Amino acid sequence: MTRFPIEEFSSLKTPFYFYDLRLLERTVKEIRRTARDPRFKVHYAIKANANPGILRTIQAAGFGVDCVSGWEIEAAIEAGFRGDRIVFAGVGKSDPEIRSALEADIECFNVESEPELRVISEIAAEMGKTARVAIRVNPNIDAHTHAYITTGLAENKFGINLEQLDSIIGLAKSLPAIDLKGLHFHIGSQITETEPFVMLCETINRLQDEYEQKGVKFSLINVGGGLGIDYAHPERHPIPDFEAYFTTFHNHLRLRPDQELHFELGRSVVAQCGSLITRVLYIKEGTSKRFAIVDAGMSDLIRPALYSAHHKIENISNPNGELHHYDVVGPICESSDRFGESETLPEVKRGDLLALRSAGAYGEIMASRYNCRPFPHSYFSEN
Ligand code: LLP
Repeated sequence: MTRFPIEEFSSLKTPFYFYDLRLLERTVKEIRRTARDPRFKVHYAIKANANPGILRTIQAAGFGVDCVSGWEIEAAIEAGFRGDRIVFAGVGKSDPEIRSALEADIECFNVESEPELRVISEIAAEMGKTARVAIRVNPNIDAHTHAYITTGLAENKFGINLEQLDSIIGLAKSLPAIDLKGLHFHIGSQITETEPFVMLCETINRLQDEYEQKGVKFSLINVGGGLGIDYAHPERHPIPDFEAYFTTFHNHLRLRPDQELHFELGRSVVAQCGSLITRVLYIKEGTSKRFAIVDAGMSDLIRPALYSAHHKIENISNPNGELHHYDVVGPICESSDRFGESETLPEVKRGDLLALRSAGAYGEIMASRYNCRPFPHSYFSEN
């Protein structure tokens, strides 16, 4: 359970992110325990949170890292990840990004289009290198998640459609500076059901059988990320059910003995260890609503405004007060700058500190300077 050192918080400038490193350590330990098949390799999706204090713990746990830009690769290397544990995805890799990834001798490019494959081959040949690649397949699976974060459906910009797969695999095998390792998939994020992952396994089994018949063998399968977390009950489920998640792949995917299975987990690793701490500026009585106006805004945590996401709100200054309803809103000049509507909270006063929970993933990293606001600071629990 995350403990907020409220006395220490009182001297800190708000808003800020607070990371419970003990919980992060327990989470990565649980991943290591449950991903026990030696063929399973976890790559942390650094896009979820690239705070160096977070990366240190994840790197020390022996995970690789999944990057989607040259800058993420730089951040990963700076945090101590080895080049040969970096995979690189994204539909728009620029030439300089490809070049620096090749310089770092990364483990694998997850390739999203034919023209990209040709460019990687050209640059690698020029540099006298061979690029290891996996082809990102768009398996057309509905992950039952928010429309903005589902990625595996046919109309998405990501990956290669099944009808075009043969042709790009043929191309990959023919290009001299390309070493085709396998297939990559990612069907979406915040997936809380098992069924989409089972469907993914079945698609992969079918594809592997088809390609084996054609004499094509893959040494690597990458199933992306997507495991969801419990935003409503961070205390009840501080650590996602990794046992069930890895067991699904163990039971449903027919992995060959000499194959590696890569996972790219982001949210499930870091979401629950982070909270955004904000101070209440004013209580404003409307005609039918009572507003708690706080000093954090959508520039600090954009998920509620962007995806209608809800982060549990706690009044950590007065946890046992009488319950009232509040709309919790930020200071930014947008109506969507709102963290909660009609939230039931122990009585909130000016100066109280609120914690917006489960904000460790896609929180700090998606902060902006909208309204010329500064980026939020971050602090860590002692572990
Ligand atoms: N691999 C690929 C290729 C991805 O596109 C993503 C996330 C991941 C792995 C990691 O997925 P995760 O384990 O975190 O679900 N900003 C949104 C989430 C966007 C996810 C984008 N891709 C949010 O705040 O909910």
